[in-house]
Amino acid sequence: MKNDLALIGLGVMGSNLALNIADHGYKIAVYNYTQDLVDKFKNENSHPNAEPFYDLDKMMASLKAPRIIIIMVTAGKAVDSVIEALKPYLAQGDIVLDLGNSNFNDTNRRFRELQNLGVVFSGVGVSGGSEGARHGPAIMVGGTKEAYDKFGTILEDISAHAYDGKPCCAFMGNGAAGHYVKMVHNGIEYADMQLIAESYLVLKTLGGFSNEELAQIFESYAKGPLESYLIKITAKVLKEKDPKGQGNLIDYIVDKAGQKGTGKWTCQAGFEVGVDLSMIDAACNARFISGSLKERTLRSKECKAQSVESLSSKEALIKKVENYLYVGKIAAYAQGFDLYAKASKLYDFDLNLGKIAEIFRAGCIIQAKFLNDITKAYERNPTLSNLIDDPFFKEKLELCLDDAREISILAMKNALPTPVMYEALAYIDGMRCSCVGANLIQGLRDYFGAHTFERIDEEGFRHHNWSN
Ligand code: 6PG
Repeated sequence: MKNDLALIGLGVMGSNLALNIADHGYKIAVYNYTQDLVDKFKNENSHPNAEPFYDLDKMMASLKAPRIIIIMVTAGKAVDSVIEALKPYLAQGDIVLDLGNSNFNDTNRRFRELQNLGVVFSGVGVSGGSEGARHGPAIMVGGTKEAYDKFGTILEDISAHAYDGKPCCAFMGNGAAGHYVKMVHNGIEYADMQLIAESYLVLKTLGGFSNEELAQIFESYAKGPLESYLIKITAKVLKEKDPKGQGNLIDYIVDKAGQKGTGKWTCQAGFEVGVDLSMIDAACNARFISGSLKERTLRSKECKAQSVESLSSKEALIKKVENYLYVGKIAAYAQGFDLYAKASKLYDFDLNLGKIAEIFRAGCIIQAKFLNDITKAYERNPTLSNLIDDPFFKEKLELCLDDAREISILAMKNALPTPVMYEALAYIDGMRCSCVGANLIQGLRDYFGAHTFERIDEEGFRHHNWSN
């Protein structure tokens, strides 16, 4: 009996996805360029529906037509190498799916290249880490709807399912839309995580809470409006014991954060489209600053502002930080979804913003209760110009903004770096302010460069002969 599909790339993500597919009754051929990972798969993951191959030729011959081939290798050159190796075998109507974190510009290029050969290509965003890949990730598919109808059921079957039974997999839109949606998901993930880290810093430094207390605080947050995967695992990470038996592991982790690039790509995409992604930018910058640990530590000895001033009651601090996080979350999603809306028009993706929030409800890293509220907001008004205009979020902002400001001021007075939260407030204030000082920018531009400006009482652009 022929295999239903194939998967190339047997790293952790690839192996887990293959097993997930096999568990759902599909017969899958698996292959890796280096023999060691095929051996490893054979030894550790033997499955009646998964057939390992050492030879691409034989793997391709084992497939039903039209052949469906999933590529799950490191984004970048490796994807192009796999496509090149596949080309001699590919026939009209075959389907190639790239499930890695590829850059959407590469996806567009590969889409056109394979389309010219009559081969269907789709860039597919997958979120949920290795556990998600094994037991149900969120899946964001691009390409064409017509092509999706030929393979979408497989991906829907293996995806996570939300509490209402809906699969967290859908056709997102045309061309590179799947990878674009995943890229922005990761950008939001950066902001979400940095907000949590800043809240941790405030609670730890100004509240003086122990790791166990901090874990309990995040557990309590996970029962309220902030309920989310990231908040839940924050509690777990904080209470994990050090395997060397010296207290909590968190206190032994070096204060430097890495990044693989999708956050940076989101920021670049924001500049390209002209959307304010200040929180994601700040989250990337915070990771850059974290890298200079040695210099930071030296300077911290001279920093005078570290006199700890806190709120009088610890209970008040916990509640206010919860509201501070909630405001930050609304602003981060408002920015990310604004990029979706504007990029959709610019690139003809035809994205459905409510649908994006719907498939983020389970399986992915940013899965959260909050996403239901975003879906509802877009159901109430599919052309909503910004999340902060939705009546539900407007009301939440009114309730929480004062606390967010108070915590931010407190952090600032104590020289605690909470850049993403500052940006959240700057964004909300900017978006709700009728004068942001741009009249002066225009005046200055016209003064030194005759760039012209518009008057409030007349149509059209004009230059003014400024007196000295
Ligand atoms: C996911 C994750 C996943 C990964 C990213 C972010 O949705 O499953 O976003 O794609 O964790 O690569 O990694 P960095 O923080 O290293 O950029």
